[in-house]
Amino acid sequence: MNRINRREMLRLSGLMAAGLPLAEILKKEMTGAKPIVMPDDPRFRKIEKPLTAVVVGAGSRGNTYAAYSEKYPDELRIVGVAEPIEFRRKRFSERYKIEDKHQWTTWEHVLDVEKFADIMIITTPDHLHYGPAMGGLKLGYDLLLEKPIAQSWPECRDILKLTQQKKRVVAICHVLRYAPYYRKLKEVIDSGQLGDIVSIQHLEPVDHIHMSHSYVRGNWRNTKESNFMLLAKSCHDLDMLRWWIGKSCRRVSSFGSLKHFTAKNAPAGSTPRCTDGCAVEGTCPYSALKIYYRNRTYLHHFDLPKDTDQGPVILGLLKTGPYGRCVYHCDNDVVDHQIVSMEFEDQITAAFSMEAFTSYGGRRTRVMGTMGDTVGDEDTLVVADFRTDKSTIWDAKENAKIQSGHGGGDYGLVHDFLQAVSQQDPSLLTSTIEASMESHLMAFRAEESRLGGKVMDVNLD
Ligand SMILES: NC(=O)c1ccc[n+]([C@@H]2O[C@H](COP(=O)([O-])OP(=O)(O)OC[C@H]3O[C@@H](n4cnc5c(N)ncnc54)[C@H](O)[C@@H]3O)[C@@H](O)[C@H]2O)c1
Repeated sequence: MNRINRREMLRLSGLMAAGLPLAEILKKEMTGAKPIVMPDDPRFRKIEKPLTAVVVGAGSRGNTYAAYSEKYPDELRIVGVAEPIEFRRKRFSERYKIEDKHQWTTWEHVLDVEKFADIMIITTPDHLHYGPAMGGLKLGYDLLLEKPIAQSWPECRDILKLTQQKKRVVAICHVLRYAPYYRKLKEVIDSGQLGDIVSIQHLEPVDHIHMSHSYVRGNWRNTKESNFMLLAKSCHDLDMLRWWIGKSCRRVSSFGSLKHFTAKNAPAGSTPRCTDGCAVEGTCPYSALKIYYRNRTYLHHFDLPKDTDQGPVILGLLKTGPYGRCVYHCDNDVVDHQIVSMEFEDQITAAFSMEAFTSYGGRRTRVMGTMGDTVGDEDTLVVADFRTDKSTIWDAKENAKIQSGHGGGDYGLVHDFLQAVSQQDPSLLTSTIEASMESHLMAFRAEESRLGGKVMDVNLD
């Protein structure tokens, strides 16, 4: 146990609000931090024969999940792919040695043949989840379905209904639920050591560059083409709030807008593309030349050759593709800041903020209970006990068992999903479609609140 007194805890909360990682603030105390080690679940069994999967959408996420099969070939084998971009389809098919007859250009083609694999992994863009999910279920596939489930509440309900009719296992890729840090936070809440939960504050600092990449220039910039921000990005956060609290949300209200990334804020001398001789390129934080070409960051949505100089290819893509556009001259409409207030059963309240304008990422969470509280930043979790006036520090970086993106959550999800499929037991998963429905409804209702200026009821019936 580490002793941190109240004054220290308050100082820590203030510094944390300034964006400093907790481990940095607590330098001295971190020597006594405990590693987060999740016990093996006795319900998990050795998978006798690798499960087979067809991947629909071989982009960033499709590749992430498929790569699990390289690390754990005894559990998963990739045997089919549907992907319209030839470069991606070929690269993926070569990597996983997929037979020609199981390589397609679009998800519809996978549904034209009988079920030939155990699992369908659906990692298509947000507007293409409903079709493959419904078709896959009809053919009898178990699904690893990227979030959001679908673009509207009736579509989400259709997928749930068919999942139940067909008695299939459907995991929603709420990967953070499988990250040791978040599992520890859930365990602390469920253990009762904080007493009764009274309220939660949860911040998603998107980071200004990440915002510009994904939600101004990239795939999730436009509500019609993709989804509104809460569903596209923050459905993870609403999902975790619902999961942590373990009770139903009754009412939501929300405010937010697109304040900054609009044409009216374009600096004098800026051009439609950063490569067009923009007068402020050298000082603009969002310069595409700086982010992608000079710093070589955020390249996971670029199709780049492996063995030749990538520089000229990146420059070419910035001159013609979406990521070279000036952030003030895009067709984006999703919000760059949004808050949601929530009232749950038993008088529990939660406040959520999605913020584009931060210099850091990594969600920050404070849970307030009648007998203790927590402060956490995805790497470090401080749990204070009012009864003993002592705090425990948990360190998620030490001893991380499954190494993968999202704090270990990406592979943690695939691991548990494969267990659920091999044993045909969805209870081995935490993010079943059933468990993910209410938080999706919270997102739909919160967006209605933001647009309509009303407090909205959340009612699953
Ligand atoms: N769980 C998470 O944390 C997380 C993180 C990022 C993205 N996502 C979600 O994952 C999904 C994919 O995101 P991504 O970052 O991999 O995007 P991506 O653009 O890299 O990948 C999507 C792929 O689908 C392909 N595609 C398009 N139309 C298709 C069709 N008709 N048939 C088959 N494939 C088609 C695209 O060509 C692309 O390669 C999205 O729904 C996104 O919201 C989830």
